[in-house]
Amino acid sequence: MCGIVGAVAKKDICPVLLEGLQRLEYRGYDSAGFAVIDSDKKLQRIRIKGKVEKLQEQYRLSPLRGTTGIAHTRWATHGKPSIKNAHPHTYKNQLALVHNGIIENHHKLREELISLGFEFNSDTDTEVIVNAISNELNSDTDFLAAIFKVMKLLEGAYALGVLNIDEPGRLIAARKGSPLVIGIGVDQYFVASDVFALLPATQKFIYLEEGDVADIRANKLTIYNKNKKIVDRPIHVSESTVDITDKQGYRHYMMKEIFYQPDAISNTLKGRSTKDQVITEEFGENAKQIFSKTECIKIVACGTSYHAGLIAAFWMEKIANIHCQVEIASEYRYRKSVILDNTLFVTVSQSGETADTLAALRSAGDAGYLSTLAICNVDESSLTRESDLCFLTHAGIEIGVASTKAFTTQLVALFLLVIAVAKEHGLSKKDEAKLVKQLSTLPARVSKVLEHNDAIELMAKDFADKNHALFLGRGSFLSVAMEGALKLKEISYIHAEAYAAGELKHGPLALVDEDMPVVAVAPNNNLLEKLKSNLEEVKARGGKLYIFADEISEVESTNGMFVLNINNVYDYMSPIIHTIPLQLLAYYVAVIKGADIDQPRNLAKSVTVE
Ligand code: G6P
Repeated sequence: MCGIVGAVAKKDICPVLLEGLQRLEYRGYDSAGFAVIDSDKKLQRIRIKGKVEKLQEQYRLSPLRGTTGIAHTRWATHGKPSIKNAHPHTYKNQLALVHNGIIENHHKLREELISLGFEFNSDTDTEVIVNAISNELNSDTDFLAAIFKVMKLLEGAYALGVLNIDEPGRLIAARKGSPLVIGIGVDQYFVASDVFALLPATQKFIYLEEGDVADIRANKLTIYNKNKKIVDRPIHVSESTVDITDKQGYRHYMMKEIFYQPDAISNTLKGRSTKDQVITEEFGENAKQIFSKTECIKIVACGTSYHAGLIAAFWMEKIANIHCQVEIASEYRYRKSVILDNTLFVTVSQSGETADTLAALRSAGDAGYLSTLAICNVDESSLTRESDLCFLTHAGIEIGVASTKAFTTQLVALFLLVIAVAKEHGLSKKDEAKLVKQLSTLPARVSKVLEHNDAIELMAKDFADKNHALFLGRGSFLSVAMEGALKLKEISYIHAEAYAAGELKHGPLALVDEDMPVVAVAPNNNLLEKLKSNLEEVKARGGKLYIFADEISEVESTNGMFVLNINNVYDYMSPIIHTIPLQLLAYYVAVIKGADIDQPRNLAKSVTVE
């Protein structure tokens, strides 16, 4: 996945392109580039290997100017990060093209084009598109028609921006399977992978739909649908503000986002319940009717969002007594699954653009589910637009690649869902009020656990020279442990695995020695005594333990066993509370190791490719 920006204006658009690119860097950051058509109607291009900052430096040294341009930040799929593989890709300084997505039949197209005499200068799948457009233009087809023709040849997913020096002042954009939004300015139009990229330039947007092609000039925008018919797409006015990129004194976005969690949770709760009742309509107008028919729930997601789903399944079965199954989207979409009657299909996604989650939703469309619900942090994302019901987490834009506030607000949303479903299946008013009350205590409790920041920073020092770590938990806290292990590996590059504590003796115990720190999530619940026995097994093998315990857990620090009492009183909110120290631990270990916290190597925030 990658980020795209493009613009056509009556003034120089390079600053808009570069700022937009910087704001899209969360989508990939291994190389970047941009191309403009200058006043001599020549194509000018700069590409670098590395981050957008380096592209900006290069631009400062040798500035370009132009009124029509495209830009790209890359997350390598085909071909390693390098200048030759960086976008825009060109055809003989005649055409330039940026692409987000994957062309699955690129091998075949490449061979056909080579047999026609075309040359390839990169290892990317993208280059076939620009050569194929050139091939169509050679046979007297006009620019727009050439793009329609090439779209027919392409299998896979793409969002494209294309320039042609024969038509300076014109940019053609197209999408299928990858997101693309048009920004509307005064005598200027923009195109980008998301709204966030363009917020400094405009608040007015049009979301392109599947198969749409936008023909963009400074004072004219024409959108065609997949049947080549001119269509009107609604204009949306964004309420997002520009200054969300401010780190507000924090060293990293991730830290800002960890500490923003009490506010993010409050915002997600606001207006979603009364003092003692969940407002079911917040999930959609006919949510009540759908939930009353729901006999089974299928949650599908990826990464951190998948972990949120796993925790929610425990809540759903315990509180609502409704069967709930959770699956990784990339697995779900490629297998035959048996759909029980009246199953509600729920996707969970921060971005709403994750390719596998979106594909899973699309395949669920006519598979016989009762209905579809998206729990998402991005309004007007593909996932929210294509689901029957939608519930937005109000976490605010998350910039750090490692998800924190998006995760805890997903859990809040899922807990509201559990209550909303449960009340259609016999949950008493009194019990509903108790659960709503637990939710309302969350922001204050999250603030309290954040006070352990300094102790966790100290603890992190023990991890910095380690290569591996084990995370243990039981019940829903196994999923908390999985999330903790994921955080540690993604930002500190320490290999971390989570295990159900009871499984330790069936294999992983063999790995335990003084070089393998073992982190245990130890809430004061009915499994605590069992967990304590598992911890003794680790201690007896010389493993060093780091235990996050609740109040009254009666687990004491001893030699080789460090217990941090996080002052939590056990209830349904505990998985959320216990997540926070693990986020801080991963953060501080990564800081000590000098890792790139907000943009860890090889990763990206929004994974819009399979
Ligand atoms: C990427 C991100 C993760 C995220 C996952 C799913 O891997 O780095 O933080 O959990 O995608 O993304 P989604 O937007 O669907 O929640």
